[in-house]
Amino acid sequence: MDGNGRWARARGLPRTVGHNSGAEAVRQAVKGAVACGVEYLTLFGFSSENWKRPAAEIDDLMGLLKLYLRREIEELHQNGVRLQVIGDRARLGRDVVNLIEAGEARTRDNTRLVLTVALSYGARAEIVLAAKRLLEAAGKGDISAEDLNEERFGSFLLTAGMPDPDLLIRTSGEKRISNFLLWQCAYAEFIFVDKHWPDFGIDDLKAAIEEYHGRSRRYGAAE
Ligand code: IPE
Ligand code: MG
Repeated sequence: MDGNGRWARARGLPRTVGHNSGAEAVRQAVKGAVACGVEYLTLFGFSSENWKRPAAEIDDLMGLLKLYLRREIEELHQNGVRLQVIGDRARLGRDVVNLIEAGEARTRDNTRLVLTVALSYGARAEIVLAAKRLLEAAGKGDISAEDLNEERFGSFLLTAGMPDPDLLIRTSGEKRISNFLLWQCAYAEFIFVDKHWPDFGIDDLKAAIEEYHGRSRRYGAAE
């Protein structure tokens, strides 16, 4: 979800207003994903690197996140959405973590859509964490070098149990992965959209899914 700041600047508005509009786009994306039968939607909400932003902007974003969690959990639950958050919770405020935990607990048995929000998330940190967990397991004798393969390694990641993404969409014209799901996106299809995130609506999601269906996925094999 990129481009909230530029969306606001283009309108002569403060960045906060862009983030507010971005939160509305999240509601649309979730609705659209449910409507399209998507089973897993993962949103990059706040990266490990976003902690470098000015404190005032971080406060705004955390405030918005709390508002979203307070307001939306019940509706997510009614719509069969399971919420989960991946990222470094130790850096998030206690109040934010409490709301996340309550939202996860409330929606844990839902199966229509798994909505994963990456918060304080960085893929390299996630891979290092997986390596640490792996070393601990090896220390306890639970896994040996011979047993290790890609599937086992994946089970130490924060996305354990989730399928790899089929489609990655980035808005606002930037063509980078920016430390998002590096391991998991090995064979994801990428779609870059020029629109800023607040302007990304259900029709844009549908168009991206349609474009995805036109792609030929060979996973390195010959045609
Ligand atoms: C996306 O919009 C939201 C977050 C990363 C929190 P940006 O805040 O990155 O907006 P730009 O890239 O400055 O336009
Ligand atoms: Mg940005």
